[in-house]
Amino acid sequence: MKASLPLASPVSADPDRSRDRIQFSDADFRIIADLAMRDFGLFLTPAKRDLVYSRLLKRLRALGLEQFSDYCALLTSAQGEVERAAMLSALTTNVTHFFREDHHFKLLREVALPPLIKSARDGGRVRIWSAGCSAGQEPYSLAFTLLSLCPEAARLNIRILATDVDPEILAKAETGLYPDDERKAIPEAMRKFIEPAGANRFKVAATARELITFGKLNLIENWPISGPFQVIFCRNVAIYFDKPTQAKLWARFGELLSPGGHLCIGHSERVAGAAEPMFRPVGVTAYQRIAGIAGERAARSTMETSLQNISSARQEGHPK
Ligand SMILES: C[S@@+](CC[C@H](N)C(=O)[O-])C[C@H]1O[C@@H](n2cnc3c(N)ncnc32)[C@H](O)[C@@H]1O
Repeated sequence: MKASLPLASPVSADPDRSRDRIQFSDADFRIIADLAMRDFGLFLTPAKRDLVYSRLLKRLRALGLEQFSDYCALLTSAQGEVERAAMLSALTTNVTHFFREDHHFKLLREVALPPLIKSARDGGRVRIWSAGCSAGQEPYSLAFTLLSLCPEAARLNIRILATDVDPEILAKAETGLYPDDERKAIPEAMRKFIEPAGANRFKVAATARELITFGKLNLIENWPISGPFQVIFCRNVAIYFDKPTQAKLWARFGELLSPGGHLCIGHSERVAGAAEPMFRPVGVTAYQRIAGIAGERAARSTMETSLQNISSARQEGHPK
């Protein structure tokens, strides 16, 4: 995993290192790293071993297990699916906030949304996807931006899809409830889309919530959704994946985006690999899907590469 990956706190800050460590063998680490890659595309290099230890120790304690080997046995058992999801939650961060990386919302306001709103007002269909939406601040920020330009959005064919692999964080997102101290990240003019909800909390107003459909979706598996999308936000998620998984993800987004559609990714991410010719950079970590021959040729070749990867993975007996 890359140095910039926002996993747990630095090893030196890990209080468990000074105590007797529960044995965490190379084999235990390998099992966990392989499962994390197989199920979630999560790329754990040996350099992350101490971080994995400290994060998963909490899971062992919660489950009343004394050995990592017992934990690995649970993960690989027929009942392991639920714990594998909990493992992912423990290993990744859900950090997010309203209007994070504000330059993307400026791009939406000033460039991407006006023609889409015009098209929707003329009867067109507009779809926006927040992929890896965490606790919901990202799709709600998208909804606020949209509503500030198009108050009647709910009556038009404009919708936002918000997905994440973590069902717990999705359940939180769906409530639309946040602590009051998150209010300050929302521009004043958009605070009309939130309302007090008692006990130092606020709730996203129904006008914004009704634009969004939340759903569980693992980005490295099949996507039971149909495009095209005109805007895709997938920010600070691909950072967990290795380069080939990232390259495949960009290509899949390229295939789902309408020509001229926008892709916004995280501050330390970059579209690279075979999908690169499908996009042109249009700002900081923002891309536009290229229409025409170059983009289509790239789409075809990335599709062929994906098919080859799938067939060679099958031959090697790897899930991809
Ligand atoms: C750091 S948060 C990013 C939230 C938001 N996009 C932002 O930038 O503020 C990363 C999110 O990616 C999700 N995630 C990690 N692996 C995933 C996968 N394989 N498929 C879908 N979501 C994944 C995590 O559950 C987490 O909620």
